[in-house]
Amino acid sequence: MSDIAPLQQEIELIHPPAQFVDQANIAGMAAYRAHCAAAEADYEGFWARHARDCISWHRPFTRTLNEDHAPFYRWFEDGQLNVSYNCLDRNLQLGNADKTAIVFEADDGLVTRITYAQLHAKVCQLANGLRAMGVGKGDRVVIYMPMSIEGIVAMQACARVGAVHSVVFAGFSAKSLRERIIDAGAVAVITADEQVRGGKSLPLKSIVDEALAPGGCEMVRHVVVHRRTGASVPLVAGRDLWLDALMAAQPATCEPEWVGAEHPLFILYTSGSTGKPKGVQHASAGYLLWAALTMKWTFDIKPDDIFWCTADIGWVTGHTYIAYGPLAVGATQIVFEGVPTYPNAGRFWDMVGKHRATIFYTAPTAIRSLIKASDKDPAVHPGRYDLSSLRLLGSVGEPIDPDSWRWYHRNVGNGNCPIVDTFWQTETGGHMISPMPGAMPLQPGSCALPLPGIMAAVVDETGKELPHGQGGILVIKRPWPSMIRTVWGDADRFWRSYFPAELGGNLYLAGDGAVRNDETGYFTITGRIDDVLNVSGHRMGTMEIESVLAAHCDVAEAAVVGKPDDTTGEAVCAFVVLKRTRPQGEEAAQVATALREWVAREISPIAKPKEIRFADNLPKTRSGKVMRRLLRGIAKGEQITQDLSTLEDPAILAQLRDAQ
Ligand code: PRX
Repeated sequence: MSDIAPLQQEIELIHPPAQFVDQANIAGMAAYRAHCAAAEADYEGFWARHARDCISWHRPFTRTLNEDHAPFYRWFEDGQLNVSYNCLDRNLQLGNADKTAIVFEADDGLVTRITYAQLHAKVCQLANGLRAMGVGKGDRVVIYMPMSIEGIVAMQACARVGAVHSVVFAGFSAKSLRERIIDAGAVAVITADEQVRGGKSLPLKSIVDEALAPGGCEMVRHVVVHRRTGASVPLVAGRDLWLDALMAAQPATCEPEWVGAEHPLFILYTSGSTGKPKGVQHASAGYLLWAALTMKWTFDIKPDDIFWCTADIGWVTGHTYIAYGPLAVGATQIVFEGVPTYPNAGRFWDMVGKHRATIFYTAPTAIRSLIKASDKDPAVHPGRYDLSSLRLLGSVGEPIDPDSWRWYHRNVGNGNCPIVDTFWQTETGGHMISPMPGAMPLQPGSCALPLPGIMAAVVDETGKELPHGQGGILVIKRPWPSMIRTVWGDADRFWRSYFPAELGGNLYLAGDGAVRNDETGYFTITGRIDDVLNVSGHRMGTMEIESVLAAHCDVAEAAVVGKPDDTTGEAVCAFVVLKRTRPQGEEAAQVATALREWVAREISPIAKPKEIRFADNLPKTRSGKVMRRLLRGIAKGEQITQDLSTLEDPAILAQLRDAQ
């Protein structure tokens, strides 16, 4: 790791505008430092105080942190609460009943508004419906839904009855969905007839039917179907029912299930460095606390804000900053069904203007693609739209390069909106390292400093903390409330993946490299240090794609690496050895297309390799290990300077380099 270059010498710091600082929830560096010092001085007291402030407890907790079974930490464990009660009933009590909770804009532009009172009623009806179906505390429910009010209602309704939801991104294939349903042991699936994106209807219910094919999914007793397009979809008698019919039959109030603080709130599958996705399991109270607190700190949320997070509920960002965080703090938020480029690449900017969004949170990939689109077509340049309502911008999911950062700052934020570049992960539940927008100057390309209470550090391979300026491994030194509790069904994998013995067993390993700036101590994330790729902010395991490619009847062997891409950040590049002669020319193009479709069908279109190169063999050491570093260099088109003396067959290098 030590060969990671230190940051460039000249640091460009952009200070928050005075009027932002004046009104900020954390105003000025001294206020930020005071929060950090409070956490340092009395770690448990710090968290306990915020947990009492942010959460309505049914039964107050008396013990803040139980470290007896580390790294299986338990937070606020003797407290009892309900997360949906905190997101909904609490708001009704605070006078937010008639406040708009969600402004939903459909793909075709149709807008639906729903107040906190109406959302509460819907969630209660579905919660009652779930109970009537026999779904209750601890049962797992898979949600395979489009971006919709109903998707959020489904998540909240599960939380209300103590069921554990597992949202599967609606772009995943039947096979991926099936794997997750089986791994979670789901008893019900909530889905829609179809989803609509970019003017096109895409099936969902038929994918669920395929996923539930006999031979492994018998524990799924019910499939609940939201009517999105009204397409005719067959219902399986005794198993399937319409969401609207289920809800209409139920009263609009529902006593929540009071659960222990550590009761699992959800499982969300994400890619790791082995073939099988990991079911990241979060707990109720700690997760809710951090969702609410980061809304206040990172997003500086105020009662009049119109918050817009463009993520999908299928990813963790859509969990924390759509389904839970904004509701936990009584905010009004925009939820969008469609894609940023439909009907044209000005859609985001048009919606910001139309709904007067004040806080806008999106991914670098979206920004990069909108930069390109507006370079081509000035009519969709953000400068053509009324973005005057914006006061804060955010970025998430992947590193944002300084050029895109500056474009975003200048053209979307008009040079006066701070940008919070938020580093976090599915496992962390909420932001870990991010500028506090009213407290600290921004440095393009850096996610600044850890949030108060988050003890982040950069260490070497033995867990020793490194001086600023030296690249190393990003770790979190102390447990925090919203951390992953376990890998569903595989506690051992949780332990090995996140608290490895090599680092001493007590440091949380994020899986990313980082370097701190010499002067400011700011963190810059240098990318994953494991075999995980980040394509358009979607996390993918190279092993997962490799094993799918290798399962194709024509493929003998495959290796997958990442390659920098100026739109998607990283792109998937696959090196493939067929069971027959190496294809060339037109044949190679045809096989590559077939393999891409295969990956789309087996995992998801988001995992399709951008590039597939064929060879007679893969470069291996004499002991038979695929030389991935070499493949990464070849994919990037780099000059190979690596020592190749251990390579079994040097002749294949040329093949790999030339093959396209
Ligand atoms: O590599 C880091 C990158 O995304 C990974 C987490 O992916 P996921 O669990 O899917 O969650 C994405 C949304 C939180 C991290 O290990 N990542 C996330 N945010 C940033 C980032 N890399 C650089 N800068 C960020 N702001």
